Amino acid sequence: MTETGTPRFPRLLVTGGAGFIGSCFVRDVLARKDGTNITVIDKLTYAGNRANLAPVDADPEQSARLRFVAGDIADQTVVARFAAEADAVVNFAAESHVDRSILDPEAFLRTDVLGVHILLEACRTEQERARVGARAAAPRFLQVSTDEVYGSVETGESREDDRLEPRSPYSSAKAGGELLARSYFVTYGLDVVITRGSNTYGPYHHPEKLIPLFVTNAIDDQQLPLYGDGLQRRDWLYVADHAGAIGHVLDHGVSGETYNVAGNNERTNREIVTALLEHLGKPWSLVRQVADRPGHDRRYAMDSSRLAALGWTNTMPFAQGLAATVDWYIQNQDWWRGIKSGEWKDYYQRQYGARLAGSREAR
Ligand SMILES: NC(=O)c1ccc[n+]([C@@H]2O[C@H](COP(=O)([O-])OP(=O)(O)OC[C@H]3O[C@@H](n4cnc5c(N)ncnc54)[C@H](O)[C@@H]3O)[C@@H](O)[C@H]2O)c1
Repeated sequence: MTETGTPRFPRLLVTGGAGFIGSCFVRDVLARKDGTNITVIDKLTYAGNRANLAPVDADPEQSARLRFVAGDIADQTVVARFAAEADAVVNFAAESHVDRSILDPEAFLRTDVLGVHILLEACRTEQERARVGARAAAPRFLQVSTDEVYGSVETGESREDDRLEPRSPYSSAKAGGELLARSYFVTYGLDVVITRGSNTYGPYHHPEKLIPLFVTNAIDDQQLPLYGDGLQRRDWLYVADHAGAIGHVLDHGVSGETYNVAGNNERTNREIVTALLEHLGKPWSLVRQVADRPGHDRRYAMDSSRLAALGWTNTMPFAQGLAATVDWYIQNQDWWRGIKSGEWKDYYQRQYGARLAGSREAR
């Protein structure tokens, strides 16, 4: 947004806009009613859900500014067509679940690395069109990355210039994607910015992830499979704060720069489970200690003073955000019960079947 209230980038191409964080970004940008038009490209994998954009569809003024394309970011034809009409590209599209990357890494390389490459090449074509006067300026490219690229951080807080030490196929693919994006800034002078967000939580989060899995299982009095000792530490960031920070970096970030987006809410997984069971009024006896994820990173933590200096601060207090999230899952059971069927049952069995069979009571 500029000082006059008009958007800096009136036409956005948002990839992965039917996922958890991408859909929040789309809903929040369109709800500002500042005239921004958004094209979403989303492959609608098991993680993508058109219903995540239902609040937009319900408002004729907003839905008129949304174009939804069911497509793959690794499909050059689709990407080229819509990049040609965009002032900026915000790439949320990814395979995003660490456990699935351990079961089947290939899809992660295809989307999180090759897909980023296709998007960057499309932006480079647009840069060339701008050079010859066929459009006003090349699109800005924002790559949404993750704190997981730093690897496990036993003490202290990662800063943007720290070494990347990803340890899972997911985080390695994400590191590959963001390094490629940065290389297009260095090599071709493309206008690239990168964000690295913390563990994000909130409404519309796919039930494969810790908080929604445990909340939805607990609502049904099912067992909660807690990995290992449950003392892994994560920094929790509310989804609207994450989406807002991405919008802020899009508008104000320095070209070529990377920004950590921390939540400043470090908790062990056990603390998270305790808090959500308390809010639901469910007993700890539902929790089962299961075999840990191989190579499970022990801790992530980031310093986000660079983003603070750019003028962004989070607004959601953790207790309030967690309560709002749990309440959303109580009130939106149709949304997650639909997801927890079909393919989900196979995945759950593969991921947790043997683990739960060999589990013990968590103390
Ligand atoms: N969730 C977190 O805690 C977190 C934290 C930091 C960074 N991130 C990053 O933020 C981004 C969004 O994460 P999320 O949690 O919303 O993920 P998500 O899995 O909920 O959503 C991903 C979306 O991308 C779509 N998609 C997947 N492959 C695609 C492809 N080839 N082409 C087009 N669309 C495709 C899916 O259909 C889905 O809608 C990802 O890049 C992720 O790495 C997530």
